[in-house]
Amino acid sequence: MTARPLEGKTALVTGGSRGVGAGIVARLAADGAKVAFTYASSKDRAEAVAAAAGGDAHAIHADSRHEQDVVSAVAQAADRFGGLDILVNNAGVGSFATITDLTMDEIDAMLTINVRSAIVAIRESLAHLGEGGRIINIGSINADRMPFPGGSIYAMTKGALASLTRGLARELAPRGITITNIQPGPVDTDANPADGPAASNMLAAMATDRFGTAAEVGAFVSYLAGPDAAFITGSSLDIDGGFGV
Ligand SMILES: NC(=O)c1ccc[n+]([C@@H]2O[C@H](COP(=O)([O-])OP(=O)(O)OC[C@H]3O[C@@H](n4cnc5c(N)ncnc54)[C@H](OP(=O)(O)O)[C@@H]3O)[C@@H](O)[C@H]2O)c1
Repeated sequence: MTARPLEGKTALVTGGSRGVGAGIVARLAADGAKVAFTYASSKDRAEAVAAAAGGDAHAIHADSRHEQDVVSAVAQAADRFGGLDILVNNAGVGSFATITDLTMDEIDAMLTINVRSAIVAIRESLAHLGEGGRIINIGSINADRMPFPGGSIYAMTKGALASLTRGLARELAPRGITITNIQPGPVDTDANPADGPAASNMLAAMATDRFGTAAEVGAFVSYLAGPDAAFITGSSLDIDGGFGV
């Protein structure tokens, strides 16, 4: 293993301006990859992430709610780097309320950003990914375990990513491309702060006494993106502090 296992590789991460995505961008760049990433609204934070990640990191404005933005982001990343080796579908949103209280706008946002945009990014990336290519989806442990009321639609969208991952593994293996789905448990981000109102409930469901960090998820993504992970495909892999075990 080289000190920089992703040297020479190129990556696109959706939703890299904050939280888990920013941790993924930082780690892929530190491990040698040239990384492009998208953001929707956090321009200043996106620029700070790019600057911190170093020379080749590049922020692209692309709203995952719009198919054409995702199409364009993949094309921009591939053009800039002369190809694409790694796609990470990270952009995601969660609205937590009972099914009778969620608005259709909230439901549509989860379906569009968490699922539809991932399908589009994968479809577009396949024009560029070749032997050794990697697709990594950021799902959620809630796909398998949803021990609180109010998370049914979010959990369903993450379950869809797990199914998409299983289904595509067979389509992509003949091309030497793997696809995996990481299922984080609670990770300290703006969306799920470790000191937020839901934190004590989540900690009560976990084996660890702390939330995970974006850097820990970034390290897992980097491993799956690297040469040692070529035999892992179709899997949903938990990184969750023992959530609900
Ligand atoms: N934190 C957790 O406990 C946890 C657990 C399991 C899974 N996850 C998953 O991890 C992923 C990241 O979550 P997070 O906690 O890091 O969330 P976060 O702190 O809210 O960050 C979300 C990221 O996604 C981007 N994003 C949101 N809507 C977008 C859109 N329409 N188009 C493009 N980018 C968009 C945001 O960019 P802008 O700010 O520029 O809009 C931001 O970079 C999600 O898929 C989430 O479901 C998180």
